[in-house]
Amino acid sequence: MAKVLVIHGPNLNLLGQRQPDIYGTTTLAEIDRRLAALARAEGAGVDTYQSNHEGAIIDRLHAAQGRYDAIVLNAGALTHYSYSLRDAIAAISVPVIEVHLSNIHAREAFRVSVIAPVVRGQISGFGADSYLLGLRAALAVAARPSPTPRSRAGAGLEDPAAAMTEDGSRRAPHSGGASRRRRAPQRRP
Ligand code: DQA
Repeated sequence: MAKVLVIHGPNLNLLGQRQPDIYGTTTLAEIDRRLAALARAEGAGVDTYQSNHEGAIIDRLHAAQGRYDAIVLNAGALTHYSYSLRDAIAAISVPVIEVHLSNIHAREAFRVSVIAPVVRGQISGFGADSYLLGLRAALAVAARPSPTPRSRAGAGLEDPAAAMTEDGSRRAPHSGGASRRRRAPQRRP
């Protein structure tokens, strides 16, 4: 029987009352119930865990090694800046499916994902259904494992944060940034 761990990150305990225009009115308890029902129907096992603490989530990822076949992770805002979380995901061989209720790509520029290069795939924008789609993806991956392309993780591919300006807005493509800034004219003595 495939075993999946679902991890909910910071502030997701407030689902149902937190910015319902963005995250909907479904509570975390209801999402966990739907996940358990889907897992039962699929003949799989699911455990769910929520924490507002980065280190606790990292500990839980480490402990998942050898105990779960796949992980569904909504890292909340840690998604956007936590390199510790990214390294923890890269450090374990359990495949991770990244999920978000909202479509992070259609929101503020700072909502890039620094974990995207080390997860198996991402589901974003389907409200509470993102979790159920994530669980289905996790079960598919567990049934047919293939290695996460870790070579991307350390290959110096473009860091999403590097595509942003200091105020958090996205750089225009090919704007060049500092390295292509025009040099000040040289004064002649
Ligand atoms: C979120 C999106 C994040 O940007 C945000 O910080 C969250 C929730 C989502 O599920 O849409 O806390 O991960």
